[in-house]
Amino acid sequence: MKCIRSEIIGHGHYLPAKELTNDDLAQMVDTNDEWISTRTGIKSRHVAAEEEYTSDLAVNAAQMAVKTAGISVEEIDVVILATVTPDNTTPATSAKISARLGVKEGTPAFDISAACSGFVYALTMADNMIRLGQAKTALVVSAETLSKITDWTDRNTCVLFGDGAGAVVLRACEGEGTSADTGILATKIYADGSQYDNLRTTGGVSTSQNAGYIWMNGKEVFKFAINGLTQAAEEVMAMGNVKAENIDWLIPHQANIRIISGVGQKLGLPDEKVVVTIDHQANTSAATIPLALSEYMEAGKIKKGDLVVLNAMGAGFTWGGALVRI
Ligand code: ACO
Repeated sequence: MKCIRSEIIGHGHYLPAKELTNDDLAQMVDTNDEWISTRTGIKSRHVAAEEEYTSDLAVNAAQMAVKTAGISVEEIDVVILATVTPDNTTPATSAKISARLGVKEGTPAFDISAACSGFVYALTMADNMIRLGQAKTALVVSAETLSKITDWTDRNTCVLFGDGAGAVVLRACEGEGTSADTGILATKIYADGSQYDNLRTTGGVSTSQNAGYIWMNGKEVFKFAINGLTQAAEEVMAMGNVKAENIDWLIPHQANIRIISGVGQKLGLPDEKVVVTIDHQANTSAATIPLALSEYMEAGKIKKGDLVVLNAMGAGFTWGGALVRI
C-alpha cells in the first residue's frame, strides 16, 4: 500500500580541530593508553576550543548535510537538534542554528534531550512529522560539546567522551509500504526513568543552578546497554519485516567497543557489518550515529540502497532504534 517515507537525502559531520590522544590524557590523570584502548576501544577524541560552542559544530555539520542533499536552506520545514550541551539553557540551540543557516523565518525549531539516544529520538520525531504531512523536508542535527560537562580530573569518565556533530536532511518520498522502500522503514524509542540516577550530570538548572559534570555507574550502564541496544535493533527489524542477514550495516551508538561487539554478536552480525568510529571520536553522545553515518557515506562505504539499523542507548535511561534504507 502506497505510503509516505522519509528519505535521507543529505548527510554531514564535523569534528573540532583539537585532538586529545590517550597519551595526552595520561599527562592529566592517572591512566594510560593500554587501559583506555583495551577497556573502551578509544584512541583519541576531538575537543572544542573554549569559545567554540555546540551551535558552531552543529552549523558546520548542517551546512554539509544541506550541500550533499543539493537543496537550498529555504526548503527546510523543521529543524530538530538533539543535544545535552545546549549553548544556553533557553532558547533552544536549534533556533540559533536555524538563524545562522538562513532557514526561512517562522520555520519550527526545537531541541530534544534524550542523551545518547537523542539522534534516534530526533529522527523519529522528524519522520513522524513528514509522514503526517507537517513537513516535507527536515533537518535533523545532533551536536555535543561534552568536554564542557566533563570533569577532567575524574579518570572514570574523562577518558570516554568527545565533541562532534552529525546531521541528516530528510525528504518526503512515496513508498510501497514494503522493506524494499527507500527511507525510514521503522523506528522505536523507549525510556526507563527508574534508571535516572545511574547516568546523569551532578547538577542542573533547577537543582544546583549549574550544568554539573557527567557521572555514571559504568557497570550498570554497560549491562543495560547491551540488552537495550539489542532489543531496539531486533524490534525495528521485526517491524520492518527483515532479518539480521538482510542488514548491510549496523550503526550502534559508540560508547564502548566491548558494548558494540557484544551487540553485533548478539544480533549475529559479522564484524565487517558493524560500524566503528569510537577509536578516533570517543563517545560524542547524540552525535555518534549521524557522525558515523556521514563518515561512512562520505567514504563510499555506506551506499544508496543499503539496509541500515541504527541503535542507541543513554541517560534516562533512554534507548531506541531505526531501520533505514539509504
Ligand atoms: N585508567 C586506568 N584505570 C582506570 C580508569 C582509567 N581511565 N578508569 C577506571 N580505572 C580502574 C578502576 O579504578 C578500577 O580499578 P580497581 O579495580 O583498582 O578499583 C579498574 O580500572 C576497573 O574498573 P571498572 O570500572 O571495573 O572497569 P570496567 O571494565 O567496568 O570499564 C567502563 C569501565 C569503561 C566505564 C565500562 O564500565 C563502560 O564502558 N561502561 C559503560 C559506560 C559508558 O559507556 N558510559 C558512557 C555514557 S553512556 C552511553 O553512552 C551508553
